[in-house]
Amino acid sequence: KKAHKIAVIAGDGIGIEVVPEGLRALEAAARRFDIELEFEHFEFGSCDYYLEHGKMLPDDWFEILSGFDAIFYGAVGWPDKVPDHISLWGSLLQFRRHFDQYINLRPCRLMPGIKSPLADREPGDIDFYVVRENTEGEYSSIGGKIFEGTERETVMQETVMTRTGVDRVLKYAFELAQSRPRRKLTSATKSNGISITMPYWDERVKAMAKGYPDVSVDQFHIDILTANFVLHPDWFDVVVASNLFGDILSDLGPACTGTIGVAPSANINPEGEFPSLFEPVHGSAPDIAGKGIANPIGQIWCGAMMLEHLGFKEAGDAMVSAIEKVLASDDKSALTPDLKGKGTTQSLGEKIAAAIG
Ligand code: NAD
Ligand code: IPM
Ligand code: MN
Repeated sequence: KKAHKIAVIAGDGIGIEVVPEGLRALEAAARRFDIELEFEHFEFGSCDYYLEHGKMLPDDWFEILSGFDAIFYGAVGWPDKVPDHISLWGSLLQFRRHFDQYINLRPCRLMPGIKSPLADREPGDIDFYVVRENTEGEYSSIGGKIFEGTERETVMQETVMTRTGVDRVLKYAFELAQSRPRRKLTSATKSNGISITMPYWDERVKAMAKGYPDVSVDQFHIDILTANFVLHPDWFDVVVASNLFGDILSDLGPACTGTIGVAPSANINPEGEFPSLFEPVHGSAPDIAGKGIANPIGQIWCGAMMLEHLGFKEAGDAMVSAIEKVLASDDKSALTPDLKGKGTTQSLGEKIAAAIG
């Protein structure tokens, strides 16, 4: 039996509160399914580390983390201590890029027992994936500032799309769509206004679609697509999007399922050349940090995605079933306030871990 080495980075804010619950659930699953997980904790990748060392990561972070099978991350960012672009570009965005985690897979599912803020929506009505391009696009460091300090001050930032970068995320999304019963793929575009990169994206979608005749494809401009997430969430199965559009859709989607606190995210390097990274969609939530009321489900669901990625699909499925069972139960006492409960991060985490068995 091989030990799977997991690097654990709690990060900032509620990351520090939800990660232990993610680990509790993972330990329960590991016991039940006889999986050996070895956790090693790191302080770097947090704003407190920055305040002490003047940087978010040690110089040898790449070598250190390369030796792990996966990275389990909480959340990073504390704008009152460190500007967000410094903390995020100094940590999470480095991991995504250097470990070539070009897929950001973000499931969006209305769980039993949760009331959607959208009227009359029930479990089954909202069940799709956002496949977000995760290494290029609108998130680039190419640009600059000229005429600084004058009336003519000008800032520019380029969007980068490479054929390799676009094709590989589309291929992943088409294959995911092919594996699902509805076999439907929706592409997020804005080729009416963003007149060079987005028509290119559309062109690559068209080219890729030829290889997947069994997948039905549609596309929406991002503006109406956000409207349709709210009006017709049942239309969607797999939604593929550029980095920025995928970021926006993956907060909106989970909001339609009741709370962003349940949403997980897998930053995947599909080739397995580098470790993949699992972190909830949400951030460090300074407004509720330290109160012990953050919803741990996003983090726990990340654990499920991590186990599936490591080859333990049955264990991952059992974790998701446990989440569903606890949410569907009539006893709402353990649920966190975002789920209209009076429970705590720990009470909900313990309940889910117990349900895993
Ligand atoms: P956020 O996701 O941290 O919080 C947005 C809102 O959702 C807040 O009201 C918060 O209380 C609530 N919320 C978030 N997670 C919750 C949970 N698990 N349970 C209950 N409520 C929850 O977004 P923000 O406020 O824009 O960002 C705060 C900080 O986090 C910033 O520094 C930002 O850059 C960073 N951030 C990091 C990540 C990440 O690490 N992947 C993601 C998003 C934002
Ligand atoms: C996310 C976050 C990050 C992103 C931020 C914190 C840089 O919002 O993981 O969704 O934009 O990718
Ligand atoms: Mn985001």
